[in-house]
Amino acid sequence: MPIALVTGATRGLGRALADALADRGWDLVVTARHAVRLDTTVEGLRGHGHRVVAVPGDVADAAHREELVAAALATCGGAGLDLLVNNASTLGPVPLRRVVELMTEELAHVFAVNVLAPHALLRELLPSLAAAGGAVLDVSSDAAVEHYESWGGYGASKAALDHLTLTLAVEAPGIRAWSVDPGDMRTAMHQAAFPGEDISDRPLPDHVAVPALLALLDARLPSGRYRAAEIAGIVGSGRTGVGS
Ligand SMILES: NC(=O)c1ccc[n+]([C@@H]2O[C@H](COP(=O)([O-])OP(=O)(O)OC[C@H]3O[C@@H](n4cnc5c(N)ncnc54)[C@H](OP(=O)(O)O)[C@@H]3O)[C@@H](O)[C@H]2O)c1
Repeated sequence: MPIALVTGATRGLGRALADALADRGWDLVVTARHAVRLDTTVEGLRGHGHRVVAVPGDVADAAHREELVAAALATCGGAGLDLLVNNASTLGPVPLRRVVELMTEELAHVFAVNVLAPHALLRELLPSLAAAGGAVLDVSSDAAVEHYESWGGYGASKAALDHLTLTLAVEAPGIRAWSVDPGDMRTAMHQAAFPGEDISDRPLPDHVAVPALLALLDARLPSGRYRAAEIAGIVGSGRTGVGS
């Protein structure tokens, strides 16, 4: 069975993707901070009949990452890890603030969760990913490439994550390194970014983003940056060029 490590697997995109992978027979190693929600998630995922290992904690915490990496390596044994999904993320302080209103420590925390944690997990798991000919999927955002007022801290972190992912793509041709902008989704994070607003017009993660990520996995598209909304078209066209 293929094995994936999914961070932030209890809600939103991470939960929907974990469900979809479990449904397809994947074994999973999952994490999130809220231990009770993680237990509930694991119960649901185990209903698919495959191995699910849960390690509660904060990806910004080095000791937690160590446990997570150990759990992933123990789960895949010598076979190697097929997929690392760096999905857990923070917006930083909400309501979102303009660049000059962000405290240095707050920006540092956004980078710790959104950039340094994915990098650290990747660094530890790259040999295992390489052994399996696997893939790293870093969840990005349109805020990485657009400049929306008050989204600067989060956007800068996603731009940095994109840069690391795409540089890794050049440096580690034996694996796939994908950065994917999932598009707006009706999730807790999106609601937090738009407090009090009706976000019911945004699609749930399993409507657009998850099918796109599954199509990306199935087609094993070249390493690169993709927008979820475009993946179906790229796969359907048979193009194999690097996404943008
Ligand atoms: N929603 C959108 O419109 C949108 C748009 C573009 C990009 N994205 C990106 O899509 C990804 C998923 O977002 P989402 O909207 O699905 O978020 P979400 O609904 O808020 O879910 C976030 C998940 O990550 C976990 N998490 C958060 N911080 C964590 C930490 N420090 N350590 C471990 N787990 C942590 C949360 O559980 P705990 O709170 O229990 O830790 C939860 O399981 C993120 O990378 C986000 O930047 C989202």
